Amino acid sequence: MAEALLEAKNVSKHFGGVVAVNSVSVTIEQGSIYAVIGPNGAGKTTFFNALSGFYIPDGGQVLYKGQDITTMPNWQRVQLGMSRTFQTPSIFPELTVYENLLIGVQSQQKIAFKLRLPSAARKKEIDARIDELLGFVNLVHLKDRPVAELSHGSQRLCEIAMSLSVDPTIVLLDEPMAGLAEAETERIMRVIRDLHDRLGLTVLFVEHNMRVVLSLADHITVLDRGAMLAQGTPSEISNSQTVREAYLGQEVLNRV
Ligand SMILES: Nc1ncnc2c1ncn2[C@@H]1O[C@H](COP(=O)(O)OP(=O)(O)OP(=O)(O)O)[C@@H](O)[C@H]1O
Ligand SMILES: [Mg+2]
Repeated sequence: MAEALLEAKNVSKHFGGVVAVNSVSVTIEQGSIYAVIGPNGAGKTTFFNALSGFYIPDGGQVLYKGQDITTMPNWQRVQLGMSRTFQTPSIFPELTVYENLLIGVQSQQKIAFKLRLPSAARKKEIDARIDELLGFVNLVHLKDRPVAELSHGSQRLCEIAMSLSVDPTIVLLDEPMAGLAEAETERIMRVIRDLHDRLGLTVLFVEHNMRVVLSLADHITVLDRGAMLAQGTPSEISNSQTVREAYLGQEVLNRV
């Protein structure tokens, strides 16, 4: 069995009387593409926030490579190799694609250490890195365009490129395909596969579209009203009676 990279053990989070996440446990192995699905309000984003350090859970533990990171702030988790994107894109729309990437790349410590290099050499190194990241998501040709002028799909890709600028081991993507048309969904799906196949990254993503989840993920957790409804491989999930009855509906699965 592959090594457990990121683990949640009985993680809970409530907001006043609302139990947003109720004792959820997942084990994400190094090299897997793991999906979290569930209806609106199921607790997916809250769970992501607990894994990535934006919320401290009220109960349970989060482990990264066996280390307890339950209360570790987000920026330290980033340094360990965890990077994430948001359900609402967190890019600067008025800045160009290049400028957005520059923010991500410049915040990288490894480059900051080289401050004594002559500035032209430093710029060359930074630009090469930005081209590498944009090349990966096929956005080089849009480098000098303000992000606001890009399609929603390209904006998502820009955000994914930014999340890669910290050289992560695992990327957490919260609904990277939300609101996208079919063709743009396909673009993002290809990039997620590439993150795994070409960069060797572990991917954890939230998604509503069952077809996408079943074709991309190797493991799936289904959340419903904060609790775990089911967990397993795509075939286990698509064959689960509980999942069929409670959430997916026969029709959706039969079409896959
Ligand atoms: N900051 C908050 N304060 C109070 N309640 C919250 C907060 N964040 C989430 N909730 C509540 O917790 C529950 C889970 O919300 P969450 O956003 O995690 O669900 P989700 O599965 O990501 O939904 P969606 O599919 O709409 O993105 C919901 O009932 C929501 O209203
Ligand atoms: Mg959400």
